[in-house]
Amino acid sequence: MTAASSEKLDTALPTGQYPAIEAILRETLGVEFQLWPAPADGDVPAHEDREFFERAAQPGIDHVIARKGADQWLVVLPLSGASHPPLLASAVVRTSDPDLLARLLQQVRKQIQLQRQVQLLSGECNQLISQVATDSEKLTFLHRVAEHLSLADLSLDINQLAQTIFPQLREQLHAEAVVLVSAGRDRNSCLVGRPVVSEGHNRLGDRVCSRLVEQFRDAAVRQPVVHNGCQNAPEFHDIRGLRSFILVPMLRSQGVCAWVLAINRLCPQCDAPECDVPADSPRHLSCHEFGANEASLLQLTAAILAAHAANIDLFRDKEQLLLEIVRALVNAVEAKDHYTFGHSERVGMYARHLGAALGLKAKVCQRIYLAGLLHDVGKIAVHDNLLKNANSLNDDEFVDIRRHSEEGWNILYGLDALDDVLVGVLHHHERWDGRGYPDGLREDTIPLDARILAVADAYDAMTSDRPYRQALPQAKAEEILRRGAGVQWDPHVVATFLRIMPDMLLMRKSYQPRRPPARRGYAMLRGMLDGQETGHGAPCTTNPP
Ligand SMILES: [Fe+2]
Repeated sequence: MTAASSEKLDTALPTGQYPAIEAILRETLGVEFQLWPAPADGDVPAHEDREFFERAAQPGIDHVIARKGADQWLVVLPLSGASHPPLLASAVVRTSDPDLLARLLQQVRKQIQLQRQVQLLSGECNQLISQVATDSEKLTFLHRVAEHLSLADLSLDINQLAQTIFPQLREQLHAEAVVLVSAGRDRNSCLVGRPVVSEGHNRLGDRVCSRLVEQFRDAAVRQPVVHNGCQNAPEFHDIRGLRSFILVPMLRSQGVCAWVLAINRLCPQCDAPECDVPADSPRHLSCHEFGANEASLLQLTAAILAAHAANIDLFRDKEQLLLEIVRALVNAVEAKDHYTFGHSERVGMYARHLGAALGLKAKVCQRIYLAGLLHDVGKIAVHDNLLKNANSLNDDEFVDIRRHSEEGWNILYGLDALDDVLVGVLHHHERWDGRGYPDGLREDTIPLDARILAVADAYDAMTSDRPYRQALPQAKAEEILRRGAGVQWDPHVVATFLRIMPDMLLMRKSYQPRRPPARRGYAMLRGMLDGQETGHGAPCTTNPP
């Protein structure tokens, strides 16, 4: 088909505005079409073909074909779609077969509909890709956090953990700063504390952060609080530099334990507060505003941190309970001989400090401390008379008293929590020259924990009164250690012990044995328990609904 002389109408859209539609029309019918905005009621362009345009704009009309001359036909085609406003396409087509023209127009409409569906699907696909990319970033971040937490030492407190996680969190949120605000407590309420961890450039300052938390804390317990455009909002007029923020609480079973604030969204493209994207474009808003994705990520991170904080508390409670049980055991042993009261605690303290001076990790030093507390627990199985008369024992009685290191093993064996102190307890009487007991181990074959305990044990025994002798003078004890280095004890351990002797002396001087509380304290404890049972002293925090 060929184009006839086309009529120029005043309100036709410029060519190239809808290139895909124009191309389909051109390629199928072989002529250039003009596109018009579909007229609203009574708003049809005033030209000679007005009646055909009006007809084509009626609902349910597929196309209009009108004879314009010999083998010349005016074609008007209504087009509607989500990707463009309602349009009319018109052209004058030269053909001797108007039926063929009508069939071609139907094909064109189908093709345009298909093209429209492809565009819609393509748009949805892009949205999905963008969502998948966002979710993938979020998952990667959460995976990193989980990995970090699984490797983190439980001795780290929640602030230290936040310090390690917040740099990645800030990057993920494209926030100028991420701040952890502490929560305090009094008897009846939860108090807003101050920022304790701050990552990035917190231009608001501590006081304003606490004020934001105070203002929005109740709403944040229900759902994350997200504010954008703060620079134009009257309620924030006195806060300079605040453009946007998210606030979420860290919730524990007993209430809020802290809050997390993300401050001022940065442009993800240029990572700056201002960028070259026009301020009135939708992209500009998405660049500079926190949305549901950021709020959900911050909420998830706060929940993970809160769960970890709960784990830390449980772990510490467990450790404390273990320590108290160990001390109770030690008290039972030392109650047999008041001369040795405090001996095990001091051996543990000396050994822990000695371990640190030897460069051992804190966790290992704590293990050695526990082993020090328990090193003589096997004496519970030794007759009291033998313990009190160690200077006049015959050979059989010596054999009997030497059983205590193996008895200690027997008592503690099978307690999972004390597995790692067993070697120290069993071998603390081995000697460097191999003449110790119970196994006659020598030199480096003796576990290091036991070599450390042996020195600490000997020093405390020498410098304490015993029923059969007075405490040795300090100089004498040091001389014995020096002479025994490489014979009875590990020479390197003895040298280190002597090097840090001033610390040991200070420790010995300031040592106060733990005594059971007076009965008055017990009465107070009963009072507290009664208070809890009757509901006094209820939790002070705001709980989530
Ligand atoms: Fe011992």
